[in-house]
Amino acid sequence: MNADLETADSRAQRLKAATRASHDALDKRIMAGGIFADRDRFARFLRVQYRFHRSIDALYASPALQALLPDLAERRRLPQVASDLQDLGQALPEADIAPLPADLPLPAALGWLYVAEGSNLGGTVLYKLAAGLGLDRDFGARHLAAHPDGAARHWRAFTAALDAVALSPAQEQQAIDAADDAFRSVHAHVEREFA
Ligand code: HEM
Repeated sequence: MNADLETADSRAQRLKAATRASHDALDKRIMAGGIFADRDRFARFLRVQYRFHRSIDALYASPALQALLPDLAERRRLPQVASDLQDLGQALPEADIAPLPADLPLPAALGWLYVAEGSNLGGTVLYKLAAGLGLDRDFGARHLAAHPDGAARHWRAFTAALDAVALSPAQEQQAIDAADDAFRSVHAHVEREFA
C-alpha cells in the first residue's frame, strides 16, 4: 500500500490514490493519440467514451444506486456522447462488448461510477481544448461540458454521497478493484481505437 492510500481520509481520496497510476497512464495514452489534431482523431476519443458509457449505462437505472445518489439519472452521459458522434457524422460503435449488469454488487458499481464521474473533472480540461476544433456544448463536445452548477461542485456532491455509503474493508477493496477495472477497460477501448 502506498503512502497516499494510508493517509487518504475519505473514500473518494482513497480511490483517487489507488487509481492514480492507471489514470496517469490513460491520460498520457489518450493525449499521445493526438485527439485534438483534427475532428477524426477526436471522434476516436468519442468512440472510446461511447464504449465506456455504454458499458456502465445500466447502473444509472439501478434503484439501489438511485437511493444513494438521488440525481444519478441526470449524471448519465451516454446520450450526450452519442449526440457528439452524430454531430461529427460518425456511426455509433457496434454493441460488441458485454455491458455491466444493473444488479452489479454495490461496491463494484460505486467504483465504476467513481471513474465515470471523475472523468467529468478532467473533461473540463478536454472541453477547453476541443474549442480548438470548433466543438462545444452544442456541437461535438456536449458530453465534456461542465454541469451548470460547476464541475467541481457537481463532483463534490457525488463524492459526498460516495463517502457516506457504509462499506466494510472488504467491500471498500471491491470498490477500488472495480475502479481499476474501469480504468483498464477504458484503456482497452483506447488501444483499440488508436491501434
Ligand atoms: C487525456 C485525457 C484526460 C486528461 C487530460 C485528464 C485530466 C484530469 C484532470 C486534470 C483531473 C483532475 C481535475 C481536478 O482535480 O480538478 C482528472 C480527474 C479525474 N479523471 Fe481524468 N483525464 C483524462 C481522461 C480521463 C478518462 C478517460 C477517465 C475515465 C474514463 C478519467 C477519470 C478521472 C477521474 C476518476 C478523476 C477524478 C480523480 C479524483 O479527484 O478522485 N480521466 N482528470
